Parts: sequence; C-alpha cells; structure tokens
Amino acid sequence: MLRISVWFSCVVLVFGRYPTSDNKDELETRDLGARISDNIVEDANLDVGGLVKKYGYPYEEHHAITQDGYILTLHRIPHGRDQNNTPGQRPAALVMHGITSSSADFVLMGPGTALAYILAEAGYDVWLGNARGTYYSRRHLTLNPNNGKGTFWDFSWDEIGNMDLPAMIDLILTQTGQSRLHYLGMSQGTTVFFVMGSLRPDYNRKIISMHALAPVAYLAHNQNPLFGLLAPHRKELEALLGDLGLKELFPRSPIFTWLGMNVCADGKPFQPLCSGLVFFFAGWNPGPQHNATMFPVKLGHTPAGSSARQLVHFGQSIVEKTFQRYDHGEVINLIVYGSRTPPNYNLNQLKAPVYLHYSAQDPFANLNDVERLYRELGGPKFKVRVPEPTFSHADFMWGQKAKEVVYDKVIEIMKTYDNAL
Ligand SMILES: *[C@@H]1O[C@H](CO)[C@@H](O)[C@H](O)[C@H]1NC(C)=O
Repeated sequence: MLRISVWFSCVVLVFGRYPTSDNKDELETRDLGARISDNIVEDANLDVGGLVKKYGYPYEEHHAITQDGYILTLHRIPHGRDQNNTPGQRPAALVMHGITSSSADFVLMGPGTALAYILAEAGYDVWLGNARGTYYSRRHLTLNPNNGKGTFWDFSWDEIGNMDLPAMIDLILTQTGQSRLHYLGMSQGTTVFFVMGSLRPDYNRKIISMHALAPVAYLAHNQNPLFGLLAPHRKELEALLGDLGLKELFPRSPIFTWLGMNVCADGKPFQPLCSGLVFFFAGWNPGPQHNATMFPVKLGHTPAGSSARQLVHFGQSIVEKTFQRYDHGEVINLIVYGSRTPPNYNLNQLKAPVYLHYSAQDPFANLNDVERLYRELGGPKFKVRVPEPTFSHADFMWGQKAKEVVYDKVIEIMKTYDNAL
C-alpha cells in the first residue's frame, strides 16, 4: 500500500497541474429544490460558485488582500434557500478548510449534507475562506504562483493563521457591519485559528464562538504511517522539492478529476482501492460515513493545493512533539524570531471560547494530543466527543451523517451565543 501511495503521489506531483480557467459561470439554475447531486459529472467539474448557484442558493464572491500581498477568495452564501431565505442581517460564520483542500469541501456533498448549506438554512451568513495557495487563492499582487521554485510558495500554516485569517475576518466584519463572527474550522482550519489566537490575540475579541472540527495542534501521537515515515526527513524533502520546482503540492488537478470519474466511480472495479488510498492519505474511514458514489465529485475538487512547507511544518510538529512556529534553521530563526529555536505558540493567549469536536478514531487528532491542546487553551473551552466510534478525520467534512452527528450540535451551541446577544 505504501509503495502504491508513493508512486501515485509522484505521478500527481509531476503531472498534476490544473489549467486555471473561469469559464464555468454560465450555468443556468435549475432543479432549485435539489438535495442530493443530480449529476455527479457536472458537480465534479463546476467550481464553488457554480455549485452554489446550481442548487439555488444566493452566492457572492469577495476578495481579501493580506498584509503581504496574497489575494484570497471568499465564497459567501448570505442566507438559506428553504429556510431563513430572505435577505437581512444575520450572524456571520467563517468556515475554514483543511490542508490541500478548499472551500469546496463544505458544499460538494450538496444541500442537506454539506456544512455550508446547513449553516445557511440555520440562519447564518456563511463565508467560506480559502487559504493562500489553494485553487481559489492562487494569486498575489506581485509574486507568481506558477513559479514552483518561487517565493510565492514560501509559507506554512503559520502565515495562514497570522495573516490570512485576520485579513478575511476584517473583510467579513467590514462587509457585514458586525463586530464579531463565529468561526468553524476543519483540521488545518483549526490549526490556523490556534496560530492566530496565539500570535494576534486582539482577534480573539472578534470571535463569538470557535468550533474546531477534528482539532489539530499537537501531533505527537500522529497515527498516519506515511506522515510518520516522512516527518524525520522533512528538511531534505523540502530542499529537494524546492530544487525540482515543486514547492506547490497537490494542486487541483484534471488527473484527480479523471481518476474520480474513470477509476473511483460507482461500478468501477478499482473503487475499493480508491477508498483504501484516501483512507491512507486522509484518515478517511471507508465506513458508514463514506459515500463512494460521490468519489468523482470529491476528487473533482480535492486536493486543491498547498505549499510543501505546510506539510513540512506538520512534520515538525510530529517529530518535535511541540506546537511551535516554523523552523527556518538557527540563523534565520535568530533574525525572524530572535531565538535559535522557533518559539512555541502561546495557546494561553487564546481567549476566545473554543469548542473541540473530536472523535475517537481520528489518526490526525489523537485523543492524547486533543487533551493536551485542551489543557493549554487560555480561554473558555469545551470538549464535545462525536458520539459515533468509527467517525474519522475526513468525515467531519464529507460524512454522510455529519449533520446528525456533528453539525446539529455545533449549531445548537452557536445559537446559545446568538440568543444571548
Ligand atoms: C450517496 O450519494 C448519492 C449521490 O448524491 C445519493 O444518490 C445517495 O443517496 C447517497 N447515499 C446515501 C447512503 O445517502
């Protein structure tokens, strides 16, 4: 399995570049009441705006520019379709994706199942963020993302937390005229929040409540064998990928879309192998939450790109058993941080109310690591264990029953804050 996975990643790394195009906006809206995908192939090829409009939801696109020049796309669903469906002031909720993912993860399972639609129906003004370097945020005022050796790609999730989240939050608060918002993150979408709350403590005041789905800060007990194997060699790998012009990893790719439709779709003999590979990479339990029919849609949108350094930084967390800033090496550390070793993120600074929604079988959010994070958080904090033992990492975004098992609880908690406002 390991050899197949490594081979498979190499093919994708080398050939998997997506032609950047924006020609999918012409779609006419139809079947406005659809709840499940009525056309798997179409949904695999649409972008987020096309999907949201196709299913009859209001849609807006916004851009935030970070202090270091990255241009980030936010997708907005300002209200619901079936309920809470009139324009008006609503509490805003920013939802942030995981590594090599994008905002698409919160819409691709469709109305009734995907988090973005469920939040909109529940009465929220939904904003889907996209971190620098992902398919929707592969832009910069001066730097060129198509240069795989270039400085565009010299960032990890430290910069995403330190600069992207503040830029997106400020844009949302300006656009809505509100002073605070709810934040929901999945996996790396939680890591970057913990970074922001530690490095930019002023932003804690702008958070009504934070919901960490599959929380990732400490990775000392990482259960993913491939990550465990590569982590000690992260520095050599980062240098090698830089030399090869592959600082960008796993971009959204027509190869994945092709694999989804021709290898992993219903009726294809290799569909179980697809499930196995994704389980291996993404901690996806091919159990009751996994709807294999949706493979082509999932692979049409995910992976969506990240920098090599994001993975290297997670490797640092695995090996060093710390939650600390990116290690540039002694000399640059001295210049950037004023110390030879990178400083720890000061979780004690994080005063926003944080809810950790975690599960027993998550290879990237082991119970021991979640416990440690929980102990060190500085503000009000609450733990919610998902009441389904086989629930795994990717199920927090793609689970067939994620609404019943996780999202309903999240919204119930959010409402207690809204009602108290
Ligand atoms: C899986 O997805 C397909 C396509 O959207 C849908 O028709 C089917 O009902 C889903 N399966 C389950 C178990 O919900």
